[in-house]
Amino acid sequence: MTKMLKTVLEKKLEVSEHDKLCSSFDIIGNIAIIKIPETLSSKKKLIADTLIEEVKVIKTVYGQVSGIEGDYRLRKLEWLSGENTAITVYKEHACTFKVDVINTYFSPRLSTERLRISKLIKPNEVIINMFAGVGTFSIIISHYNKTSKIYSIDSNPVAYELCKENIEINKLNRNVIPILGDAKLEITNKLKGIATRVLMPLPEIAREFVDTAVSSLANNKGDVHYFAHVRADNKKTAKQNGIKDTSEAFSKFNHIINNITVVREVGPRFYQIVSDVEII
Ligand SMILES: C[S@@+](CC[C@H](N)C(=O)[O-])C[C@H]1O[C@@H](n2cnc3c(N)ncnc32)[C@H](O)[C@@H]1O
Repeated sequence: MTKMLKTVLEKKLEVSEHDKLCSSFDIIGNIAIIKIPETLSSKKKLIADTLIEEVKVIKTVYGQVSGIEGDYRLRKLEWLSGENTAITVYKEHACTFKVDVINTYFSPRLSTERLRISKLIKPNEVIINMFAGVGTFSIIISHYNKTSKIYSIDSNPVAYELCKENIEINKLNRNVIPILGDAKLEITNKLKGIATRVLMPLPEIAREFVDTAVSSLANNKGDVHYFAHVRADNKKTAKQNGIKDTSEAFSKFNHIINNITVVREVGPRFYQIVSDVEII
C-alpha cells in the first residue's frame, strides 16, 4: 500500500516531500490517516484530494494533528477530504472490526503481534485482556482458539460498545466477554485468581498494573504479555533495555521472561516492546 501511495503522490510532490509523508501513513479500512509535516501544510488538501481521486480503497482522509494522548489513548484528527466519517470496517487475520478512528484507539501496526500471541494460546485458557480497545487482540485470539474464554476490559465506553458489536460480527459471543470499566477495579472486584494468561496492551502505564495482572492469575501462576516503551539507540539495545525494564516491573514475583519482541520504533530512540513473562 505504501508503495502505491508513493507512486500516486510522486506526480504531485518533490521526492524528499513524499518520502517524509509516506513513512507516516496509517490505512484503516477506507480511512487514511496521514501525519503532514509543518513544511507541507500548504499542500495538505492537495495530498488528501489526490489520495481520494487515485486510490480506490481510500474514501476518507484525515490529518493527524496530535500525538496519542489521554486515558483513552486518542489522537486528534483533522478531516481533509472524502466522506466525513470516522467509522470504518477493518479486516485482519480473517476477522472483521468496526472501528471509530476518532473516539477509540486503534492501530493496524500491531497486526503481527496479535497473530503471534494468538499462536501461543493452549486449549481451554482463561484470558484477561486488561486494555482491550474495540476487541482486536481478544477477537483474533478467540478466532484461532475457540476453546478459550477472554474477558475484554476497556474504560472507554465507545470502545466497549464497538467491542460488543465486533464480538457479534465475528460470532464469538460465547468466547469473548466485554467489560466496561477500569481494569484495576474490575479485576479486583470480579476477576481475581481466575486467569491462565493476561494481556497488558497499554505500554505507557502497564507497569502500574502489574500487581493487578498477577492477582488475576489462578494460583498467582501463568503468562503475562507485558507491553512497555523503552529508550534505546537501536533495536538490539531496545531488546536489552526491554529485559531490564520487564525484570524491574516483575521483580516482586518469581518469573521467567520467555521472549521479548521489539514491536516498532514509536519515536526517535523510543521503542515499543512486548515481553512474554511467565509467573512461576
Ligand atoms: C493502547 S490502547 C490498546 C487497545 C487494543 N488493545 C488494541 O490493540 O487495539 C489502550 C486501551 O486501554 C484503555 N484504557 C486506558 N486506561 C484503562 C484502564 N484503567 N482500564 C481499562 N482500560 C483502560 C483505553 O481506553 C484504550 O482503549
